[in-house]
Amino acid sequence: MQTVLSGIRSTGHLHLGNYFGALRNFVRIQDDYNCYYFIADLHSLTTHPHPDDFHANVRTILAEYLAAGLDPEKVTIFVQSDVPEVSELYVLLNMISYKGELERTTTFKDKVRLAKAKARNVRLEDVAEDDHNDEGINISAGLLTYPVLMAADILIHRADFVPVGKDQEQHLEYARVLARRFNNMYGEEVFTEPRAFNFGSGLIKVPGLDGSGKMGKSEGNGIYLYDDEKTITKKVMKALTDSGPVEPNSPMPECIENLFTLMALVSEPSTVEYFKEKWNDCSIRYGDLKKQLAADICKVTLPIRERIDAIYNDDAYLHKVVSEGRDKARTSASATLALARKAMGFKVF
Ligand code: TRP
Repeated sequence: MQTVLSGIRSTGHLHLGNYFGALRNFVRIQDDYNCYYFIADLHSLTTHPHPDDFHANVRTILAEYLAAGLDPEKVTIFVQSDVPEVSELYVLLNMISYKGELERTTTFKDKVRLAKAKARNVRLEDVAEDDHNDEGINISAGLLTYPVLMAADILIHRADFVPVGKDQEQHLEYARVLARRFNNMYGEEVFTEPRAFNFGSGLIKVPGLDGSGKMGKSEGNGIYLYDDEKTITKKVMKALTDSGPVEPNSPMPECIENLFTLMALVSEPSTVEYFKEKWNDCSIRYGDLKKQLAADICKVTLPIRERIDAIYNDDAYLHKVVSEGRDKARTSASATLALARKAMGFKVF
């Protein structure tokens, strides 16, 4: 059986983007692959969460994974920091990673640029691409080496496939680079080159409710699995719309298309068709569309929400899931780490 691995940073509740883009598919493939799903708590440290929140954030993702249907009998669910082998491999991989290539990573460059814009109180566009002035900003080395830690996550289980969104493609490519470089340097096939996993239907981009772009944690435009009916309805009713079509069969502006994209994910095809016809003959009423959309989102998320609290508060169950997951993950991780150490020349006295 081939191995699939994916992680999510513990930085708050899961939203519909996480659910439709990833989690729902994780559940669908749990019988067909040897799956590892983990909570990337070490990665969450790049943004310095308050110690009081750190553990609760991990627990939140764990409870939401389980509530959405991931079955610990079928897949390995674990917490990144419970597997110290990952941190050791991270040290080893740092030795074959180059500062220049890490500095060229898009996510890193974007974060640095954002930090500079904030520190100088200017717009993002006002920071030149080739600006090298680091004064007044503190970019952690952990942010620079984020892709190395992510490569360690992936390579330590010799994952064949990693389901990733567009924004993580470059990081996955870097894991491939490091696997190849290590194998070439030490002359052994220690690591497997991971490939992107495609769930068949093509990549779904789940849009936000603010008219443009995707749903994201940091964008503040999301609907969360943990939102209650009232919150969901309020958010959907407030979603950006235009003043309505004036000519039959006109192209949709992005904000309206986004509502239809969401609808296609949660509603019956006949419902989507109904509102498309109303759009095309200019009789559409956005209030009706939104009411329907909110109701259909609730149909998907409320049963999950109902399970989240019970799981979140079940200490014994969570302890069991996490400790069994840790044991399975450590068995796999220590086997790979031993191969890497041997290839590099480590020897036990
Ligand atoms: N960087 C990923 C994200 O922000 C999270 C992540 C960490 C990950 N390690 C991983 C994803 C390993 C896949 C595989 O979404």
